[in-house]
Amino acid sequence: MSPVSSHRPASALRVLTGITTTGTPHLGNYVGAVRPAVAASRQHGVESFYFLADYHALIKCDEPARIQRSTLEIAATWLAAGLDPERVTFYRQSDIPEIPELTWLLTCVTGKGLLNRAHAYKASVDKNEAAGHDPDADVTAGLFMYPVLMGADILMFKAHQVPVGRDQIQHLEMARDMAQSFNHLYGEHFVLPEVVIEESVATLPGLDGRKMSKSYDNTIPLFAPREQMRKLIAGIVTDSRAPGEPKDVQGSALFQLYQAFASEEETAALRQAYAAGIAWGEAKQLLFERIDREVAPMREHYEALVNDPARIEAILRAGAAKARQLATPFMAELRQAVGLRNLGWQAAPAKKEKAARAALPVFKQYRDGDGKFYFKLVDAHGQLLLQSRGFDSPKEAGRSIAQLQQQGAAALPALEAQLQAIAGVSTDEVAAALRQLFEAAA
Ligand code: TRP
Repeated sequence: MSPVSSHRPASALRVLTGITTTGTPHLGNYVGAVRPAVAASRQHGVESFYFLADYHALIKCDEPARIQRSTLEIAATWLAAGLDPERVTFYRQSDIPEIPELTWLLTCVTGKGLLNRAHAYKASVDKNEAAGHDPDADVTAGLFMYPVLMGADILMFKAHQVPVGRDQIQHLEMARDMAQSFNHLYGEHFVLPEVVIEESVATLPGLDGRKMSKSYDNTIPLFAPREQMRKLIAGIVTDSRAPGEPKDVQGSALFQLYQAFASEEETAALRQAYAAGIAWGEAKQLLFERIDREVAPMREHYEALVNDPARIEAILRAGAAKARQLATPFMAELRQAVGLRNLGWQAAPAKKEKAARAALPVFKQYRDGDGKFYFKLVDAHGQLLLQSRGFDSPKEAGRSIAQLQQQGAAALPALEAQLQAIAGVSTDEVAAALRQLFEAAA
């Protein structure tokens, strides 16, 4: 496999998202996350990273068999839904040892107070307090640190965009905070990620009409066997209107589910059927057939994959190798930046930088005995190149300096009245000094 960076333009938009490996993927996950992500990963100019967040899973789940099974099922689901591991970087979080390593570096630049305000942690504390328990009862440090681990996931791969659900917006803000703190302390190493909320993607209702979610126990597993899928769909709540009675599409879970899979024409046809009094049983049959049309071909692929765990294991390991081609050198850069260094290493580049800076001309601002504000430009040897006349405020002096810094010699004619001629210094020398400053700042 070729290195990730060699066949992609450096300018590619990097999109990254993680999937926590607890539970079995359901229709809501498919419509809300898997399907749009697989479609997006096929776009040109986009470099996609999808990973199984199994370290995150440990925060919620202490059943090893469930973690393993869920990782297998979720990996198989994404592959069956058409994710192409050759095209994207598809990996398992725990295969990247640089992730926990970066988590620690970020931990050290993250305010504890910031984490105190994380919604998931706060919800646990609020619940404990309401019940009269210790605020941190049954709260693990893992739950508390969740946002830092997530920050490491994102910042490690310099993701520009992170598509997530609304409940994750705060985590993205925190990741930006961590990146900013680190960059401020150690130099510009991290890209500030942006959150992407897919407004157009439907939130699917579950069997009981509330949002389809594991926590409501109202899900329809994406790859439930055909007959089980039919039975589950038959159990979707409806009102008690009899066959022949017109039915409302508004608030109908059945209709919303249909709409998430159907074309516009198909949806319009069902809308008419509702108005014409279609029987609920018949509508459920239509829904089942429509979903099955999309899911059946994937199900076959899914079953083949789930029954061949070694194949998935190999795909994930290849993905991890690809991801680590980025993570390993980047982690080395970050270790160096914070001072986890080879003890024989000498700060030579830094010295050079300082020397280069010392060789640059400088603007100096000062206030003279007449109470006015002045600036001058002197070269590295202390030779005076430009001398201003007095300004009434430091702000005006600063404005002229800024003009010279931005426009170089081109600003000289406009500033003529504010500058005094220096004997023996040519305009060319001044222009060269300004250019030198400009280039050093770029
Ligand atoms: N916390 C995310 C969720 O529950 C999963 C996740 C872990 C994630 N790491 C991530 C999402 C990094 C995006 C980027 O949905």
